[in-house]
Amino acid sequence: MTASLARHGRVAVITLDNPPVNGLGLETRRALAAQVHAAEADPQIAAMVIAGAGRVFSGGADIKEFGSPKAVAEPNLLSLILLVERATKPVVAAIHGTCMGGGLELSLGCHYRVAAPGASIALPEVKIGLVPGAGGTQRLPRALGVETALNMIVSGEPVRSEQLAQVPGQRLIDRLIEGELIAGAVAFAEEIADVRPLPRVRDLKAAHPEADAYFQFARNTARAMARHFPAPVKCVDCVEKSVKASFDEGMRFEREAFLGLMWTPECKALRHAFFAERAASKIADVPEDTPLRPVDRVAVIGAGTMGGGIAMNFLNAGIPVVMLEMKQEALERGVATIRRNYEAQVRKGKLKQDKYEQRMALLSTTLSYADIGDADMAIEAVFEDMAVKQAVFEQLDAVMKPGAILATNTSTLDVNRIASFTRRSQDVIGTHFFSPANVMKLLEVVRGAETARDVLATVMALGRKIRKTCVVSGVCDGFIGNRMIEQYSRQAGFLLEEGCTPTQVDRAIEKFGFAMGPFRMGDLAGNDIGWYIRKRRYLEKPDLRYSRTADLLCEMGRFGQKTGAGWHDYQAGKRDAIPSPVVEQMIADHRAALGITPRRISDEEIVHRLVYSLVNEAARLLEEGIAAKASDIDMVYLTGYGFPLHRGGPMCYADTQGLFNVVEDMKRFARNPHDDAAFWQPAPLLARLVAEGKTFNPA
Ligand code: NAI
Repeated sequence: MTASLARHGRVAVITLDNPPVNGLGLETRRALAAQVHAAEADPQIAAMVIAGAGRVFSGGADIKEFGSPKAVAEPNLLSLILLVERATKPVVAAIHGTCMGGGLELSLGCHYRVAAPGASIALPEVKIGLVPGAGGTQRLPRALGVETALNMIVSGEPVRSEQLAQVPGQRLIDRLIEGELIAGAVAFAEEIADVRPLPRVRDLKAAHPEADAYFQFARNTARAMARHFPAPVKCVDCVEKSVKASFDEGMRFEREAFLGLMWTPECKALRHAFFAERAASKIADVPEDTPLRPVDRVAVIGAGTMGGGIAMNFLNAGIPVVMLEMKQEALERGVATIRRNYEAQVRKGKLKQDKYEQRMALLSTTLSYADIGDADMAIEAVFEDMAVKQAVFEQLDAVMKPGAILATNTSTLDVNRIASFTRRSQDVIGTHFFSPANVMKLLEVVRGAETARDVLATVMALGRKIRKTCVVSGVCDGFIGNRMIEQYSRQAGFLLEEGCTPTQVDRAIEKFGFAMGPFRMGDLAGNDIGWYIRKRRYLEKPDLRYSRTADLLCEMGRFGQKTGAGWHDYQAGKRDAIPSPVVEQMIADHRAALGITPRRISDEEIVHRLVYSLVNEAARLLEEGIAAKASDIDMVYLTGYGFPLHRGGPMCYADTQGLFNVVEDMKRFARNPHDDAAFWQPAPLLARLVAEGKTFNPA
């Protein structure tokens, strides 16, 4: 049963019961319709209450059904809501916990709504690139007033029931129920059981005194805020209909808008990202009910750039942190940086003073390993040097209590080797945070050859607790994200040699939607980091071709923003990249020395060469099992590398282009004498997918 019926005197309480969020999938819709029919047919019943079992009323439509025959199978959501609205006995929605999307639309089809305080109410469809599709854009403005409803629909953000109950003139929440919800809802139903005619939201009037100007303003704002996404503007159009057209006309308009958006690349990308995020937390050989190790206190070794940011994540989540350093000054510097960060948040009004103090009170410092032995987890963020890591891990092995998790934040070193410095390699794992570690969403969780399953499960759960998007990576040089970015950077260098300027490359990929082009990114991160890695590569793989331009840049001392000059010029204290004639001359000289006549390269070619260099390396990562699924790679790039969300990540983008076309482009690039034929050899997995007519992500 996914909806049950219980009698409370002459009130039938119909309870949705489809864990975890009472999603309105086909079976639940069928069961609900059957119970409404039963209550209608029963002469002893005078009114109905629809409620949700467990912690929520309903999280809404089952988006796994999207695009499948199940989504439209009757009763679909629209007909279910109509059935409720047309009931001859009053129907009361009893809302608690979460009431979102289709769940809210269902409640808007009820004749009355009562709610527990603290319920989170939203129409979040815009977040997956859609407009609400079951009357939300027509009924919510009628029940709540145009402005509040429009804000909710365009933002997709939840608002609390008690807040909504205070909106002047609102008819969304007929009563807030402080005590036991069902008892309150039944009492309410008793009171209104005989009131006729039954109130219907569709019969209310949605109005705005200055509709034309208001909607034009709303449309402009929505357009400016969501440049790459069509849904927010469509939301405004739909709500406008609720004011300017009949209910039925508005419903038709909403339906067309919904169907029109459903298969747009933007909507598909957002849906993909939504599922990819959830899929990333699932690991094939780690059962979801794996018992977790408790992590109530964390030690962070190294209070530098990363150590401080890492510590803040735990402080923010209320988990005490002890930071260990070699010298008192380093500790003081680290703590001062954390303070400065929080104080800036307080100044901007993002953090309350008392919260800031609470967080700082959770932080302690030490110079002695003896003080950290009882922590449940130690995260090392010391210098990127194997000898230093070895010394740290040997000491951790000596002092940490049995079962403590030992994590390394290394970005390039071999996690298995680091684990071998201990006598408990099963407890060792990589936690690769991104800089700034307190801001960036991505956490690559690096699974060593011997990492225990419960250690992996614990770190994934902990990552979620500190609000990271966790993606599992196997051990390899660069893990998922940086191994791919190295190929992207190589390709960016070839583009310079052939005729591009750094500004042209950055602009092309930023127009595609990247937060930052490769050269601005290099200037921000520090060009010396790549230089250091390349010097190692020249020894390890002497045959691999790199453009020398990046080395020449570093030889000029242009390390990026921190030296005031990199690929671009920077004015003191500013971050705006200014094209540098010196760098352009350096590139031109280098090009001449190679005997290359520059050619004009289109933005499309720039974008495809850069993105496909990511894709080809990603295919190798998949084949090697470093990444478990293509959607994990998309998550890494969406959350850690500024890949445009509306493209869904590199793998999703490649699928959208068609893998056949991707490989054809690669073949063309390979024939270019100034590119690198070996570089464009399609990865075996990619070639196989093309041959089999498949995609990276399941269609
Ligand atoms: P950093 O140089 O800013 O900080 C390192 C800190 O470790 C210094 O404060 C130093 O005093 C301390 N330290 C060195 N040896 C120590 C020891 N034996 N015991 C205790 N403390 C010691 O370096 P950063 O940038 O914070 O990097 C730390 C680690 O994080 C490295 O492994 C790096 O590869 C990795 N990483 C860095 C990223 C970045 O963007 N900076 C991004 C992701 C990972």
